[in-house]
Amino acid sequence: LHVAVLMGGWSSEREVSLSSGSGVAEALESLGHRVTRVDMTKERRTALAADLAAAAPDVVFNALHGVPGEDGTVQGLLHLMGLRYTHSGLAASVIAIDKQLTKNALVPHGIRMPGGMMVGSESLYAADPMPRPYVLKPVNEGSSVGVAIVTAHGNYGSPIGRDVAGPWQEFPMLLAEPFIRGRELTVAVLGDRALAVTELVPTSEFYDYDAKYTDGLTVHICPAQIPAEIAESAMAMALKAHHVLGCRGTSRSDFRWDDEQGEAGLYLLEVNTQPGMTKLSLVPEQGRHVGLSYAQLVQRIVDEAFA
Ligand code: DAL
Ligand code: MG
Repeated sequence: LHVAVLMGGWSSEREVSLSSGSGVAEALESLGHRVTRVDMTKERRTALAADLAAAAPDVVFNALHGVPGEDGTVQGLLHLMGLRYTHSGLAASVIAIDKQLTKNALVPHGIRMPGGMMVGSESLYAADPMPRPYVLKPVNEGSSVGVAIVTAHGNYGSPIGRDVAGPWQEFPMLLAEPFIRGRELTVAVLGDRALAVTELVPTSEFYDYDAKYTDGLTVHICPAQIPAEIAESAMAMALKAHHVLGCRGTSRSDFRWDDEQGEAGLYLLEVNTQPGMTKLSLVPEQGRHVGLSYAQLVQRIVDEAFA
């Protein structure tokens, strides 16, 4: 096959995407495919359609993360051009990139998620939007960019209230959610199957951008050492979320589990339709757990685009 690997972009996750994209491109070449690497930059964005049309690939491997690329815009362009592409389509991407829209879509289907509210960032100078501890996050960022946990005695990330400005100030509106104490879990879905549950144990205070992409800063335990019924629930919730949103190929659902509450303490936080494919990333790790090498996983994601 001739595969165009679309990577880069100009979201805060550009570097992650370049790393995902080069891993994917190398794997595709090792499988004997012809690969065209397309670095999507802001400067050449008006030429993107022409570049893709000139390449005329059999399929586009979408290795973008964040906005644009994970939010439906690129999916719309590819659809309009009649190009086959990996991962989720337009509608699933639009919903999943927005953590509030995701709640609106999934909670009516019985998927437990923390109750959230949108708050104007300016209002945070005046008052807490809900009792502490709570989490503030942009609705459409990934890799924990702009996330702050506000605790009773201060916070992780950027101090709020009358204190110091923080990265979240770039965002006029933020999603506030009650902080779920306990443990961080994630489940990858590939095709019609949830692969495994991984527990993420940060060695720093919080599983933030640096903890996610610096080797050794987060311990991944796969499979997670949790009761079987919690693992089964998490996998069932991830698979259901994937189906309700209409995701394609692969997705990864992130959870918090309050281990003092049993199954009732398991909350889905978000669905990632363009999960990381770097060497440290979770989906490749869960793939290995079920016997898929990195290259075999990449091939499966390509195959799903033809399904
Ligand atoms: N947002 C990053 C790429 C992930 O979900 O893996
Ligand atoms: Mg995410």
